[in-house]
Amino acid sequence: MTALDRYITVEDFRPAAKEALPADFFDYVEGGAGDEWTLAENRRAFERWVFRPRFLRGAGRPDTSTAVLGTPISFPLLVAPWAFQHLAHEQGEPATARAAERAGTIMVVSSTTDEFLEEIAHASAAPKWWQLYVHQDHAVTEAILDRVVAGGFTAVCLTVDFPVGGLRHRDARSGLRLPVPVSGPDILYDPKLGWDDLSWIRGRTPGLSLVLKGILTAEDALLAVDAGVDAIVVSNHGGRQLDGSPAGLTALPEVVDAVAGRIPVLVDGGIRRGTDILKALALGAGAVLTARPLAWALAAEGQAGVERALEILHDEFENAMALAGCRTVSEITRDLVTPSPR
Ligand code: LAC
Repeated sequence: MTALDRYITVEDFRPAAKEALPADFFDYVEGGAGDEWTLAENRRAFERWVFRPRFLRGAGRPDTSTAVLGTPISFPLLVAPWAFQHLAHEQGEPATARAAERAGTIMVVSSTTDEFLEEIAHASAAPKWWQLYVHQDHAVTEAILDRVVAGGFTAVCLTVDFPVGGLRHRDARSGLRLPVPVSGPDILYDPKLGWDDLSWIRGRTPGLSLVLKGILTAEDALLAVDAGVDAIVVSNHGGRQLDGSPAGLTALPEVVDAVAGRIPVLVDGGIRRGTDILKALALGAGAVLTARPLAWALAAEGQAGVERALEILHDEFENAMALAGCRTVSEITRDLVTPSPR
């Protein structure tokens, strides 16, 4: 038994993180916008689908590996961008980068950490995407993008759902001060960002893929495909932006249908279980992203915690594939799920 064996599910890290963190920062990680309806909806959405498992397929040792934008990964889960990891644990983002390498997956690095960009880039061999917020002063962003290219990042993941900060009432009540002021209306980022700006970002990052994160409708998905975007992440930003937005899982089929296989569609929001990953893939996602469980794990146990959380999610996904009769990720198809009768 090691200390980490007491974490059986990723939810087990949550109370340990609450214990480890100052209350205001725990609330920042944990909280959503407005009434936190969307935050809760991200979990509820998974309850509306049930499996149609298939048997006698020899699926007892499934192959969980897949690829996203040509990058092989050990299972279809990426480390979602989340901000200020050095406030969660002194090891900060480099620890998460090393854990992502151990787990064989991609880390999406938060735009708010540009101070540590090179340190994170060189902390591990995990493939990395740079999550991008565009500064009001585009020259600041151009300088960052040059460092992103030099740092060997393989994609820019532009978060589109942040023209202003969401209404984070927990942070207003706690009076939380962050290194970069990101909640509320007075953010540093460009409130006028539009589709026309994508070619500028692309031009500055030759050879890198461009991923749009935060798409929730078929209309925007079609605009993204028309704009030549390489992949979409269906996301409501962990319930932290527009309260009343649908769960990522709920918006996923609409986006998948609109995109019609032309580019990969990923999804995030509420992933806590291997069975959640399996449901998202059955509904057409190429992979999922998750942040909060990894934030809890980092806060509670540092790098070893993130490694354990990723191992739990991997092992649960492998178990779910086997029990559902899927030998490979490509065998996870739409007929594996049906709406729950309830
Ligand atoms: C947030 C920003 C920083 O959700 O992405 O807090």
